[in-house]
Amino acid sequence: MSTRVLVAGASGYIGRHVVHELLRRDYRVVAVLRPDARWELEHPNLDTVSVQLTDPGEWFTGIEPCSAVISCLASRTGGPEDARRVEYDANSELLKAAMHWQVHRFVLLSAICVQRPRLAFQREKLRFEGALRASGVPWTIIRATAFFKSLSGQVERVRAGKPFLVFGDGTLTACKPVGEEDLAQYIVEHLVNPASEGSILPVGGPGPAITPREQAELLGRLTGKTVRVRSLPPSLFLVFAALLKPFGHFSSRLNERAEFFRIAHFYATESMLVWSRESNGYRADLTPETGSMRLEDCYRSLLAGATSAELGQHKLF
Ligand SMILES: NC(=O)c1ccc[n+]([C@@H]2O[C@H](COP(=O)([O-])OP(=O)(O)OC[C@H]3O[C@@H](n4cnc5c(N)ncnc54)[C@H](OP(=O)(O)O)[C@@H]3O)[C@@H](O)[C@H]2O)c1
Repeated sequence: MSTRVLVAGASGYIGRHVVHELLRRDYRVVAVLRPDARWELEHPNLDTVSVQLTDPGEWFTGIEPCSAVISCLASRTGGPEDARRVEYDANSELLKAAMHWQVHRFVLLSAICVQRPRLAFQREKLRFEGALRASGVPWTIIRATAFFKSLSGQVERVRAGKPFLVFGDGTLTACKPVGEEDLAQYIVEHLVNPASEGSILPVGGPGPAITPREQAELLGRLTGKTVRVRSLPPSLFLVFAALLKPFGHFSSRLNERAEFFRIAHFYATESMLVWSRESNGYRADLTPETGSMRLEDCYRSLLAGATSAELGQHKLF
């Protein structure tokens, strides 16, 4: 009988690919979905369970035990309240199940940005990482760099002849973007790799690291057009966040909006690469790589007509 793996966040961008990769490798999969989730995939080795993971309960006692758990959960807003409920509370529910079933591995997909935490969702991710590490459950934490989807939002703008927006001169940050299929393979490989038990694994896609200005140049090369670049000061986001801050005490919606601007400022100024304390800076050479898909491949697909939603799903359903 093949291993039965519980996947949370199965309806998300990476989670869907993890489910697909597990099925491709003949695992049995239990996809955890929210009660109102959209889900189309059917497969003889796939079960689904409908659970509101943000509400504590004994939901796992009613399902056949799994021997591994993969969490690809993520707060969809990054707001402080949602981050607590998803990044910490919902993952804690998974950990309860993992302890109950005595799983052989809990793989948590986290993010490289937690290295230098300034945001609510990063603090909640770290809080759960700490709980997982202290739990006694065998664990692996994968801290991924930027996904293709996070760097594809401007392809449409450029195609429509609008300028590519950068912060500062467009070289304030860099990352090694990782493709969704490559990351899913990496996650599934580490489910059974004894060497990665008890490890925090930062990972990006194939190098070299790319800056926003280089992304604009890449789009120029691929479209054969001159791409105009418009520069914005990242401090703009901090001004908006500061303006909203006093109102955040009275309105959770405005509090979330202020956090959104802080998130935007973070990504406008911090690289998604391994941070070196020795060099006091981000280091592309220290950022491990996986896979073969490059941002260029993703941009080519988008320019050929794929939508960003299709990009995350086109080989799945
Ligand atoms: N975006 C990036 O560039 C990037 C880079 C590095 C690391 N990461 C990390 O990678 C992980 C996966 O990211 P992703 O982009 O694949 O995430 P995503 O597409 O936003 O998917 C999030 C998943 O979490 C579920 N979820 C959200 N709120 C929930 C709630 N209240 N209750 C239960 N489930 C909930 C979603 O369910 P629904 O479909 O029902 O909403 C979905 O399945 C996250 O930890 C993220 O921080 C992201």
